[in-house]
Amino acid sequence: MGICFSSASVDQSPPQSTTQFSSVATSEATTRSTMTSSSGGSSSTVSGGSCGGSFTPAGQMLAQPNLRVFSLAELKAATRNFRSDSVLGEGGFGKVYKGWLDDRATGKTTIIAVKKLNSESMQGFQEWQSEVNFLGRLSHPNLVKLLGYGLEDTELLLVYEFMAKGSLENHLFGRGASVQPLPWDIRLKILIGAARGLAFLHASDRKVIYRDFKASNILLDGSYHAKISDFGLAKNGPTASRSHVTTQVMGTYGYAAPEYVATGHLYVKSDVYCYGVVLVEMLTGLRALDTNRPSGQHSLGDWIKPHLSDRRKLKSIIDARLEGYPSKSVHHVAQLALNCLETEPKNRPSMQEIVERLEKIGSSSERPREHRAQSGSPHAVSRRGHQPLQYRSPLHPKPEATESYPLPQRS
Ligand SMILES: Nc1ncnc2c1ncn2[C@@H]1O[C@H](COP(=O)(O)OP(=O)(O)OP(=O)(O)O)[C@@H](O)[C@H]1O
Ligand SMILES: [Mg+2]
Repeated sequence: MGICFSSASVDQSPPQSTTQFSSVATSEATTRSTMTSSSGGSSSTVSGGSCGGSFTPAGQMLAQPNLRVFSLAELKAATRNFRSDSVLGEGGFGKVYKGWLDDRATGKTTIIAVKKLNSESMQGFQEWQSEVNFLGRLSHPNLVKLLGYGLEDTELLLVYEFMAKGSLENHLFGRGASVQPLPWDIRLKILIGAARGLAFLHASDRKVIYRDFKASNILLDGSYHAKISDFGLAKNGPTASRSHVTTQVMGTYGYAAPEYVATGHLYVKSDVYCYGVVLVEMLTGLRALDTNRPSGQHSLGDWIKPHLSDRRKLKSIIDARLEGYPSKSVHHVAQLALNCLETEPKNRPSMQEIVERLEKIGSSSERPREHRAQSGSPHAVSRRGHQPLQYRSPLHPKPEATESYPLPQRS
């Protein structure tokens, strides 16, 4: 749930009362069962559904959040009193804990992830609300399931399904014996899954703009099935007569689309730019933003563009940890990334087109052939600049990021 920068506020709604959610919350029940679990990808949106929402063959958007309300005591028990050895990770708005929920009736135990938000920050509260309002109404195989929430005293909590392999960021940039390089076919699988999640959001009746697409918000289950998490910055898209919404500029350095950073004009295709940056992170194993890289290479999206269209240059920037990779498939993904990183939003492909192109690339039977980039390539130089995995806070952005962008004024 990351806010790593913000600029002039243009159109910010006032925070709503917390009681709003208590009234709409029910136990996790009927509506989730109406979704199908087939693979995603179709963009046809059909109005209706049992709850007055809308659905696609692979997912559903309810009119109201349908979530379980957890007591603080329940979540304390589940996480062993938020013990430090239950911490799964930490983001800008607090820690995420692993928990175990016992169902006495069935004797079953469900593993959960509990995000404990920093309730003193108004921004944290707004993100909590947005998560409940968006993710609480959405269900799709490529969106993390929000099971419920807690709201007690000053504590704001969110309860999610547990994703056994954690975030993509950790797999790409994390260190330690437990982090193994992702092979190309797994990278492709993750990219397709995440693209399906975004395509679903963009195909909903009132297009949902996700706004914070990045490697740390792509979570992986035990089979590397990708799901998008963190809807704290999600926004309803423009009405049919408009191309964009104007809003406070928020998001993460290195990922946000140039038109959005420059003007506060947020397009559905602004998400496509962020997606393009993740595509390039997957190709290169380099972070979206790294001020330890030589000057001119800090922002991956800007620096890498000329390398994407040239096969020889492309070879020199491929992630050195990819021992063997299918060159044709990599070339096609690079082409796609180049399209996603187009300066003009309208020239970028839709997420649905991206899903289709990636599926086609994935279904080609080409065998891995190419071998890792030679040392001395721009990639090898930049890899030295990799930092250990750090969690960022909106109030304390990564120090290197502050060199390139003005710091937000945050309450
Ligand atoms: N449902 C989940 N299952 C398993 N691990 C999770 C889950 N949700 C979050 N995590 C872990 O907790 C970490 C922190 O997540 P969080 O969303 O709070 O921050 P972030 O996305 O890393 O950073 P930012 O605040 O910039 O968005 C994740 O990187 C992941 O490792
Ligand atoms: Mg996150």
